[in-house]
Amino acid sequence: MNGLLIFLNLLQSLANCITLKETLYVHRTRPGLLVQEVSFYNPTDKNIEVSVTQDILSSWATEHSPIEHMKDNSEADADSGTKWHIGSKTLSKQVLLTVAGREFSRTGIMELPAKKTVLRHSLTVFDYTVMENKGDKSVTQKTIRDRKSRCVKAVKSALHAGSSDLYEQHTLAWHQLWQSGFAISDSKAPDSLNSDVINSTLYYILSHVSSTLQDLTSSPSEVSQAMTYLNKPRACYHNSHHTLQFSSLWQIGETVEAMNKGVDTHLSSLEHYGCSNYIKAGAEGVLQAVLLSLGGLSFRESNDKVVHMEFNVDPADLHRDYQFTNIRYADKTFLNISVIVDESNHAVLHVSSSADNFYGTDAGLAEPVLLSQKTQTFPVKLTKPLTAILYVSDSKKHLDSLRKIVQHVEVPVLAPAQDHRVLARHKHGHSYGGLPAIFWVILALLIVTFHFFLFKMIFSELCKSDSGHYYRRRALS
Ligand SMILES: *[C@@H]1O[C@H](CO)[C@@H](O)[C@H](O)[C@H]1NC(C)=O
Ligand SMILES: *[C@@H]1O[C@H](CO)[C@@H](O)[C@H](O)[C@H]1NC(C)=O
Repeated sequence: MNGLLIFLNLLQSLANCITLKETLYVHRTRPGLLVQEVSFYNPTDKNIEVSVTQDILSSWATEHSPIEHMKDNSEADADSGTKWHIGSKTLSKQVLLTVAGREFSRTGIMELPAKKTVLRHSLTVFDYTVMENKGDKSVTQKTIRDRKSRCVKAVKSALHAGSSDLYEQHTLAWHQLWQSGFAISDSKAPDSLNSDVINSTLYYILSHVSSTLQDLTSSPSEVSQAMTYLNKPRACYHNSHHTLQFSSLWQIGETVEAMNKGVDTHLSSLEHYGCSNYIKAGAEGVLQAVLLSLGGLSFRESNDKVVHMEFNVDPADLHRDYQFTNIRYADKTFLNISVIVDESNHAVLHVSSSADNFYGTDAGLAEPVLLSQKTQTFPVKLTKPLTAILYVSDSKKHLDSLRKIVQHVEVPVLAPAQDHRVLARHKHGHSYGGLPAIFWVILALLIVTFHFFLFKMIFSELCKSDSGHYYRRRALS
């Protein structure tokens, strides 16, 4: 999940054969940059010539705009002499698309020496912009010039960074993004949601949103604006059902159309449930919002400041182990929260915090406990009416005041143990209980052995009564 697409290919013509490994990625920190690395290997013992065309660039250059030869004398451009293309085209709704890039080879023919690998990079920058002042020709011309020079600048900067740095920036950015995440114990019950599906959907969503915080071209003021949004979660997923129970929301198909549709559904439901600040913050915010949505986590604010975070889920729904990693609590504090069903089938909360001035308390609003990097456990209490099962705040005073506000009809008690049949359904896919595999193996062996003795008995009875003639007759006929 580092944002790379890798293709392996074997190309064969009558007498020749080459292998191709293509790594393709849309750069995480450089907007609009598509990097294509192709390694051609010629396993045969004669030199081979192949012709290469890059559809996007060549069709753009010939069909939509004149080729402009871009001169680049930077040292990083090892393949100087390869052909450059840049073109702009107005799409419907006044969207101007500008593309700049470099082809693999100048002539379209590549020489592959025997038993050698040839590595080639291609960089393409895409830039979309909505044209204002349609009809005004001089404005249009100016916009086109601006966008073209912007693209050229982006390609040059990428060339300057060099291919290994580009690769590293990209994979590191993905790695940083994945510092926050969600994992859940595998369930075999039908229609249940597992980590692999959640992670791949998260990956599709994050691939669709840019990150102002990681984008190398963001200005300092854009970065600080994004941070402000990130620290103001507002009512994101406040009093809403957690999405873990809607498995269809997470099952996104594999076609591009299905992915686009699935991602759109997710983003519009985040918007609908009050997470617009997180969306405006970019990829980091969207990830936080989706994590909150999964588990029924939400923040409460007062006077424009976050006062506490709460974990709102019905104790009866806690029949699987799951873990939130690095949930951002406003500024620079990150929380890890896990639900663990212990041996007595009771769910227990494990909470740790990267800062040492945060407090946590259970649904019964017992005396707040200071959180730290060491995991602190909290019992899951059942209240009437149902309230959150965990409150976290950087103000002990605030948690103390909550105890006065939140009135329980009855004294909160420890939530009952989870139904063992539900637990068995997750573990085994059915509710017949969790007999270990060895039991079934022994049972099968017993049955086989029993039948074996049974057959042996019948067999010897038969032989005795027939005095063996039966077999002799069979053997002769
Ligand atoms: C999903 O992602 C989480 C957190 O990023 C990770 O801990 C977990 O191992 C991943 N699970 C799978 C099945 O990929
Ligand atoms: C949260 O979990 C992550 C991943 O396991 C770990 O790297 C980090 O140190 C934890 N943070 C806290 C505050 O426990």
